[in-house]
Amino acid sequence: MATDSRVPNHIAIVMDGNGRWANRRFLPRVAGHKQGVDALHECVKACAERGVKVLTVFAFSSENWERPADEVSGLMELLAKALAREVAQLSKDGVQIHFIGERDSLSDSLKRGFEQAETATAHNSKLIFNICFNYGGRWDIAQAAAKLVAKGLSITAANMSLVMSLAHVADPDLVIRTGGEQRLSNFLLWQTAYSELYFSDKLWPDFDASALDEAIDEFNQRERRFGKTSEQIQSKSTV
Ligand code: IPE
Ligand code: IPE
Ligand code: MG
Repeated sequence: MATDSRVPNHIAIVMDGNGRWANRRFLPRVAGHKQGVDALHECVKACAERGVKVLTVFAFSSENWERPADEVSGLMELLAKALAREVAQLSKDGVQIHFIGERDSLSDSLKRGFEQAETATAHNSKLIFNICFNYGGRWDIAQAAAKLVAKGLSITAANMSLVMSLAHVADPDLVIRTGGEQRLSNFLLWQTAYSELYFSDKLWPDFDASALDEAIDEFNQRERRFGKTSEQIQSKSTV
């Protein structure tokens, strides 16, 4: 387990590399996504055990609709099955589930599944688990601005933060991306202004609890300055 007692309050993850994991085994891409669900199951457990308060994962981007139709429908099916299978246990484990993203273009049954999962777990408080599905960071910023306009409020950074899709949690402390790519791919563009970024070459299905600990250990080596000088940070931490 991570050696330092400073566990990030909020970890956000771009779970990338499922397709390559499957390709390497001469399996269909959907088999990689299936294995990715198992990795996510372990990751939720590991985060709860380590005292992480918020876990946000990128499960399907607004751009992922561009993939082959059978992969898109396979992903929708996997999610529906995972919801049916996992929500009761997650609720028992104290997990509060939120689905983040644009819902209008999703099937009625998936929308119902999202609402049921959110209602069934709303009272929990051990771990807040945000699943970004049909999510895009630009969509998030645009929907927040539209909300402010509709309310007749001015578009200030403070007001925007109140209506962004993750307004119920503090910004991510640590963003992990697996699969070797070093980009955000339209993930939390607004909320990652001061997040520490960590890139792992491991493919998502191979990202286990010890890989999570390595990321947390690396996070603990970073000095978060938020625009200040190192001296200012050092003098504050020794008081
Ligand atoms: C991430 O894995 C999962 C989703 C985008 C749904 P990929 O499917 O992007 O895996 P690679 O990048 O092709 O290996
Ligand atoms: C980002 O991965 C989206 C998710 C993990 C859900 P992608 O595989 O879609 O990102 P790009 O296309 O390589 O940027
Ligand atoms: Mg990818």
